Amino acid sequence: MKNIDSRTHVRGESVYLDDIPVIQGTLFGAAFGSPVAHGLIKNLNLAAAEAMPGVVRILTYKDVTGENQIGGIIPDEPLLAEHHVDYCGMPVAFVIAETDDEARAAVKRITIDIEPLLVITDPREAQAVGQLIVPPRTFRLGDSATAWTACDYIVEGTADTNGQEHLYIETQGAYAIPQENNGIKLYSSTQGPTAVQRAVSKSSGLPMHQIDVDVTRLGGGFGGKEDQANMWAALCALAAHILNKPIKYSLHRMEDMAMTGKRHPYSSDFKLGLDKDLKMVAYEVTFYQNAGAAADLSPAVMERTLFHCTNTYFIPNVTATAYSCRTHLPPNTAFRGFGGPQGMFVIEAAIAKAAEELGVHASVIQEKNLQQTGDEFPFGQKAQSEAHACWHKTDELYAVSEIRQKIASFNSVNQLYKKGMALMPICFGISFTNTRMNQARALVHVYTDGSVGVSTGAVEMGQGVNTKMLQVAAHIFSIDSKRVKIQSTSTYRIANTSPSAASATADLNGKAVEIACIEIMRRLKAVAAEELNVDVTSVSLKDEWVYVNGQQTDWDWNRLLIAAYAQRVSLSEHAHYATPDIHYDKSLEKGHPFAYHVYGTAIVEVTVDCLRGTYEIDAVKVVHDFGSSMNPLIDRGQIEGGIVQGIGWMTMEEVVFDKAGRLRSNALSTYKVPDIYSVPKEITIEPLQTETENLALFRSKAVGEPPLMYGIGAYFALRNAVLAFNPSATIPFDAPMTPEKVLLALYHVNPAQTSSYAQTQTA
Ligand code: GUN
Ligand code: MOS
Repeated sequence: MKNIDSRTHVRGESVYLDDIPVIQGTLFGAAFGSPVAHGLIKNLNLAAAEAMPGVVRILTYKDVTGENQIGGIIPDEPLLAEHHVDYCGMPVAFVIAETDDEARAAVKRITIDIEPLLVITDPREAQAVGQLIVPPRTFRLGDSATAWTACDYIVEGTADTNGQEHLYIETQGAYAIPQENNGIKLYSSTQGPTAVQRAVSKSSGLPMHQIDVDVTRLGGGFGGKEDQANMWAALCALAAHILNKPIKYSLHRMEDMAMTGKRHPYSSDFKLGLDKDLKMVAYEVTFYQNAGAAADLSPAVMERTLFHCTNTYFIPNVTATAYSCRTHLPPNTAFRGFGGPQGMFVIEAAIAKAAEELGVHASVIQEKNLQQTGDEFPFGQKAQSEAHACWHKTDELYAVSEIRQKIASFNSVNQLYKKGMALMPICFGISFTNTRMNQARALVHVYTDGSVGVSTGAVEMGQGVNTKMLQVAAHIFSIDSKRVKIQSTSTYRIANTSPSAASATADLNGKAVEIACIEIMRRLKAVAAEELNVDVTSVSLKDEWVYVNGQQTDWDWNRLLIAAYAQRVSLSEHAHYATPDIHYDKSLEKGHPFAYHVYGTAIVEVTVDCLRGTYEIDAVKVVHDFGSSMNPLIDRGQIEGGIVQGIGWMTMEEVVFDKAGRLRSNALSTYKVPDIYSVPKEITIEPLQTETENLALFRSKAVGEPPLMYGIGAYFALRNAVLAFNPSATIPFDAPMTPEKVLLALYHVNPAQTSSYAQTQTA
C-alpha cells in the first residue's frame, strides 16, 4: 500500500502548521533571543520595540502566569530567561504584534545589557569544572581491569563526533487559540502532543484538561520536535491566555537553527583489547556528551549511548562511563538514534584503529566478534541476535571479497582517485529506555455507514505511521482500506501519550489499534452469531462479508453494523497497550530494557578525488532486518532516508560554534546537507525476512532510527580511501569527514603542526 499522504503531498494540499487558515484577530509572536552565550542580565530595554508599529505587548518572565519552567526530565530550563542567559538564542522576551513582519521588526529593536561570564563550549572542559547535568553512569560486564592481561593487542585513542542540525523541512511553530472558560486549543508542530500539553499547563497554570493539542502532521521531526516544540507552544499559549487572542509563531529557518538544540556532539576515550585470534576481550570507554545549557533529554540520550556502546558485538569485559556535560550551547536534544550512533561510532573507531595497527581489514575483527543469540549486553539483556544472519547474507548477496578486489585493482591503476569501502553492522534496541513510556492508546469508532475513524497517540511526521495504523484497522476488520480514516492526534481524544519517538510509534500505537479493533470484532461476531443463529466460533469476516464455517452468507459489513447498532452494541473502543516483559534497574544498571533489537549490515563504497579532497558515495548495499515488513515501500523509504541522513552526519554536515558560543553554520549557505547530487549513486536494500514472533506489530520490526547508523560506514570507507592514497596518513577519529579534513589527511597535514604548508608543497 502506498503512503496515504502521497497524493496530497505531491499536490501541495497536505496541511502543515503554517497552512492552517488564520482566524480573524490572530496576532503574531516572535522571540528575542540572547545575543550572548553566558552572562547576567543587567538591563532589558523594551521601550523602542514597544513603540514600533503593530506591537501589542512584549512578554518577559515576569508575565508568566504559571511556573517559568519547561524542563522535562530536570526542571532547569526557564520559558523566558530571568536573571541570566545560558546560551546564544535563549528566549528572553516574546513580542506580540499584529503581523509577522511587525513582530520581527520589533525584536530587532530590543537591546539587552549583559555582564558576560565565562563561556564553555567543550564538554571535557565542562566536566573538568564539575558542570554535569546528572551524575555520571557506568555500565559494567565482566571485569575489564583484570582482562587486559589476557589481551595480546591493546589500542587506545579518542573519537569525536559533531552535532547535527535536524533540518526538518517544516520549522518549529505553534498556533494557540483561546477557548471559552480559559481553555486553549493548540496546533503545534510537535512529536509529543502530551509533552506540549504538560509544558503549556505548567507555564500557564491551566490544568491539562483545558489544553487541547492537535497535530495533523509534521514536515519532519527527527527528534528535534520530541521536546523542543514545547517552547514555542508555551510562549504562544501564554500570550493567548493573557491577551485572549489567537497567537501564532512559525519560526524562520535562521531563528530555528540558532535557537534550537541539535544532535549531541560527543568526545570519547577508548581502550580496546584483543587476543591473538582477534576476539575482543576488553573494552573501556568514557563518553563526554555535550549537553548544552539545559538537561532537555540529555540524560536519556546519554543512557542510550551506553546501551549501544558495543554496537552489534559481544565483548565479555566492558566498562563504559558517560558524562552529560553542561555547556553554553542551545540544549542539545533527541536526534534519530538518540545517542546510540555516537556510542557505536566509538567502538567502530576502536576496531578501525586495531585493524590499522595490525594490518588486517576491520571487517575481519567485526565478523569475528558479532554477537550470537544468548550473548549478554553490558546491561544484562541476552541478545536474540540476527547479527550473523545479516552479515552472512550481505556477503552472499554482494560478494564482499569481489568488491574488495575491484577496489584494489582500481586503486592500483589510479593515482589521483582512490576508492575505499567499509562494512557497517548495526544493532539497535527497540523500546523507550524509560520503561514507563512504553505504552499507547487508540480510540476506534465504527460509524453506521461502515466508515471507521481511528485516533492514536502517534504523530505522522512523514515516516508513514498513519498508513500503518490504517493497515492494522483494515486488516483486523477485513475491510477496504478506503473505509478507514486516521484522525489527527489530539490530547482530547488520546491522553498521556508518549512522544512519537524511539522507533516505537508504530509498534506501540499499532498494538493499541489492534486491541481496539479485535474487541469491536468480538462484539460484531457475537451480533452475527445471534442474527444468524449460529455458534459464535463459526463466524468470521473476510473482505467485508460474514462467513459461517467458511461459507459466505448474505450479511455484509454494513448490514452487520446496522444490526449491532440496533441491538445497542457499542461500535467504539478505547484500548491500551503496554509492552510486556521489559524492565530496568538503574541502581544495578542491569535489566531487559528492550522489547527486541533490529539488526543489519551495510557495505559502503566511496571514491575520493585525491587532488581536491572531494568524494562521492558510490554505493550502499544493505541487508536489513525488517522482520516481516508491514509496508515494504514505506520501510524502504525510511531506510534510504536514514542512510542519507547518517552519511550527512558523518561526512558533510558540520555544525560550527565559535568559542563565544555563537552558531556560525546558521543557514543553508554554511551548513551543507546531502542533496540529490551527493546521495549515494546506488542504494540496494535487501530484507532479512524473518517470520519470528516478536513484540512488534504483525511480526514486522521497527524501522525508524536504525538505518541512520549505516551512514557511519561512510566515515570509515572514506578513511580507507585516504589510507589507500597515503598509507602513513594520521587521521584523527573526528567526524564529520568533510572534504577539508579529507584533503588535510591526504597530504599529512596535521592542523596542529606548523610545518603543514611545507608538507603540502612537497606532496
Ligand atoms: N528516541 C529514541 N530513543 C528514545 C528513547 O529511548 N527515549 C526517548 N524519549 N526518545 C527516544
Ligand atoms: Mo527520538 S530521536 O525523537 O526517536
